[in-house]
Amino acid sequence: MPKRPNAQPASPGSDRIPSHQTFHPQASDSFAAPAPNVPAALLGNLSPAQFMRRYWQKKPLLIRGAIPAPALPLTRDELFALADRDEVESRLIVHARNKWTLEHGPFARDELPSLRRRAWTLLVQGVDLHDERARMLLERFRFVPDARLDDLMISFATDGGGVGPHFDSYDVFLLQVHGKRRWRIGAQRDLTLEPGLPLKVLQHFEPDAEWLLEPGDMLYLPPHIAHDGVAEGECMTCSIGFRAPTATELTSQFLYHLAEKLVERPAERTGARRAANVLDGRYRDPQQPAVTQPAQLPAAFVQKVGSILAKVRWNDADVASFLGTYLSEPKPSVVFDAPRRPLDEMRFAKQASKAGIRLDRKSVLLYDQRAYYLNGEENALAAVKTWVPELADRRRLSGKRFVTLSRHPSMTARLHEWYCAGWIQVGELG
Ligand code: SIN
Ligand code: CO
Repeated sequence: MPKRPNAQPASPGSDRIPSHQTFHPQASDSFAAPAPNVPAALLGNLSPAQFMRRYWQKKPLLIRGAIPAPALPLTRDELFALADRDEVESRLIVHARNKWTLEHGPFARDELPSLRRRAWTLLVQGVDLHDERARMLLERFRFVPDARLDDLMISFATDGGGVGPHFDSYDVFLLQVHGKRRWRIGAQRDLTLEPGLPLKVLQHFEPDAEWLLEPGDMLYLPPHIAHDGVAEGECMTCSIGFRAPTATELTSQFLYHLAEKLVERPAERTGARRAANVLDGRYRDPQQPAVTQPAQLPAAFVQKVGSILAKVRWNDADVASFLGTYLSEPKPSVVFDAPRRPLDEMRFAKQASKAGIRLDRKSVLLYDQRAYYLNGEENALAAVKTWVPELADRRRLSGKRFVTLSRHPSMTARLHEWYCAGWIQVGELG
């Protein structure tokens, strides 16, 4: 069995979790990620700084008792109800008589196989967008930048259920939240997939480690580690997944973003000034001679276009602008729920000073030195530096903090706009 030394799984500490770390989704401190230099039960008593240095993108880590049982953010029936909704992405995978089948949701309850039937799995993607408890669980992982965080998927499986041995191209924390699942993993180089299957299943799986995970246990896997998780009895597993765009996706999306910026008028957006006007003018060919091969693409045409393209320039601000807008863009299925009868600005401010405000769980708010990016929209940071980064990092402001910060001109008006769009909510907790 081939083994790579840096891919050996480890279990740094099996100490029980200190009582102050218990999982109470409603408690005000439970959504906080552990501080960078404080050992955390979530990471097997490593600090986030140690975890990132030693394991992140490097090697697997098994953590016993990462979150105290019962760790279930949603019940089985709540998960089934989510899988029945049009805007929720779900998949059903059945493994029977050595055959894999895959169906896409939504699934009404009676379209799912019987609970008595073996070896089926329901996967529900983006649960954090639809359920506050799931969102809070995800927040514990914010020691990794939001720009990398993707979503929380929850799987339900009957005995023997799983998605087959496979590998993922991104990092994942696999948190067992109900029942037991046996994980086998391997750092194999051969990642050839079975041809002709509806899902990614490895042709040759060579596990080199195996554990039975119980509620509260968690397995971290970096990209490309082969793994297979099989339910032992009914079980539920949360996957905290990260986003790692391919170079092709980044390049094509960046060029698209740049092209949009280039055709915009320079004064209309921050960062576009220098790049503008490259697209001014039009192809001209006063020297074009008469031709006998009219279908031939003129070499001069190619050259001329090459020299137009060579004038396209970008800098770090353009890249940041692209990344901020691209990564904060809501997923296609996301619809914000605007309040049906919104409070006017004065009443909104009064409520917010009492109850505080929070970003809606579907909102993504990122920032850099120059701009902030909210749900795919870019705006200059200068005028709102005193409060936007704080709201973005904490995702909430207490009533007291709202009062202090709202002395800043335009803050209330801007937050009221976001509240009317359903991007923020009044009240600190969901
Ligand atoms: C599962 O939860 O069943 C599968 C998660 C994974 O292997 O990535
Ligand atoms: Co996987």
